[in-house]
Amino acid sequence: MSVVVGIAGSVRSGSFNVSLLRAIAELAPDGCRVEIASIAGIPLYDGDLEASHGIPPAAAALKDRIAAADGLLLVTPEYNNSLPGTFKNAIDWLTRPSADIPRVFGGRAVALAGATPGPGGTRLSQTAWLAVLRVLGTRPFFGRGLYVSDAAKVFDAAGRLTDERVRDQAQKFIAGFAAFVKP
Ligand code: FNR
Repeated sequence: MSVVVGIAGSVRSGSFNVSLLRAIAELAPDGCRVEIASIAGIPLYDGDLEASHGIPPAAAALKDRIAAADGLLLVTPEYNNSLPGTFKNAIDWLTRPSADIPRVFGGRAVALAGATPGPGGTRLSQTAWLAVLRVLGTRPFFGRGLYVSDAAKVFDAAGRLTDERVRDQAQKFIAGFAAFVKP
């Protein structure tokens, strides 16, 4: 069994990206489990807080979950043609102390996906994440993309992915990532 930790970069109730992460988890193939994690409870990065109190418990716990997993899936919104600062802030905490980056991120299989009610499918956000994945020494998955546009039309009011075409894309995406994580 391979384990993928999935993190959605939104804490909004009704988040399309949380809904997409849940859908991907349900569509994961046999032999792959997607565990849903959250950035909730991670404070703004503050070097004074780090010096006085160390890594916040929510960030330390997430670091350990990622380190114990086979892969990491970031399901990202797009803000102002780039990645959301809120999500980046959480990931920044996970890179502290920097000596721990190889344990948490080094060589880690990482996939990106995202959903937006707009037309662009979070392409600009996902592209902006690549610089971060590179500096952290990850092993990014480029086998398939998952760019969900018009999110208000592909999820129902309960957040279920009802669009058959997007479901098929999501299923192929997680199947491809699962094979990439553990060939
Ligand atoms: C957005 N949104 C947005 N969408 C997009 O496709 N491209 C963009 O550049 C932006 N810019 C942007 C900036 C800010 C500050 C906000 C708050 C929103 C819309 C965004 O995709 C939408 O709010 C999503 O619903 C956010 O993701 P969740 O919370 O649904 O997961």
